[in-house]
Amino acid sequence: MKKSHSRCNTARKVLIFWCLFIGIGALGGSSCMLLKPDGSLMGMQGLLPYFQVLPFAEVLYQNYIFPGIALLCVNGIPNLIAAVLLLRKKKSGIIMGGVLGLTLMAWITIQFVIFPSNFMSNTYFIFGVLQALTGLAALIFYQQEHFAFHMEDYPNVGRNSDTLVVYFSRMGYTRKLAYAAAEKTGADICEIQSTERTEGTPGFWWCGRYGMHGWDMPIGEIGADLGAYHRVILCSPIWVFGLAGPMRSFCRAASGKIKHVDYILVHHMGTSFSKVADEMDCLLGVHRETFFSIRCHVGKYKTIYKSEEI
Ligand SMILES: Cc1cc2nc3c(=O)[nH]c(=O)nc-3n(C[C@H](O)[C@H](O)[C@H](O)COP(=O)(O)O)c2cc1C
Repeated sequence: MKKSHSRCNTARKVLIFWCLFIGIGALGGSSCMLLKPDGSLMGMQGLLPYFQVLPFAEVLYQNYIFPGIALLCVNGIPNLIAAVLLLRKKKSGIIMGGVLGLTLMAWITIQFVIFPSNFMSNTYFIFGVLQALTGLAALIFYQQEHFAFHMEDYPNVGRNSDTLVVYFSRMGYTRKLAYAAAEKTGADICEIQSTERTEGTPGFWWCGRYGMHGWDMPIGEIGADLGAYHRVILCSPIWVFGLAGPMRSFCRAASGKIKHVDYILVHHMGTSFSKVADEMDCLLGVHRETFFSIRCHVGKYKTIYKSEEI
């Protein structure tokens, strides 16, 4: 599969920004509180009465020593540790950075309860949401980009010239199932290549446009002689509740050329997408023998539907 720039790397850099921004800010704030426990360095003397609704206020909130230590330990040091882990490209940094976004949201929620509505709390709550979302995006991109596929795991592919597996895959999830099917049957394998842009974020939106309209997406030449095979297994992702555009183009072009066909459809959902299988039957002019509908969540597969073999 062609690789575009790393989306994980971009999200990781944005997350480093959030961790440093929140971490350094918390370090500064807590230093001011510890240097002047009356809050005078930050002009916060008037805020102490609001803390008195909190548990153990008579011990913990008579000055800013405990809030300063808490700020340092909850938002300061952990964010700086997460930034270091992220700079060292550790997955743990991504998880920690995202969780610290949630932590900031929880911290500000306490402020919502004790302080009157104010600009700073609202803004920092939004920063927490953005940090958590950046962490989630970075984690999803990380999982996608570290999705393992090793050609040497499929030594049996190409040993049985009776069967052909044809697949289209943007992110590699369908490709893995296609290779597993080819490995099991010893089939030859053939990838459908789109002539449109399908990689990366722009590719995702471009594919979405084709998916939304139910359009065929132009594809390159299919080298294989379909008529020469006894059985063809078609593997395709689902796009916008329908058949992926490149596979629709393939099916139309393959109309009348395939003798026996099986389908493997890959998607995110808990439904079978049997209507999509019906559409493929219609386009190809042949009724399917078997049909698998498989849910895939960033590389973890679950069979949602498996037809009985005829
Ligand atoms: C443009 C687009 C639209 C999608 N629409 C759906 C959808 O409606 N339902 C669904 O379950 N998955 C949808 N997906 C998710 C893919 O079916 C899923 O990620 C699949 O595993 C991708 O396989 P691949 O990595 O081989 O391309 C969509 C993916 C793309 C790119």
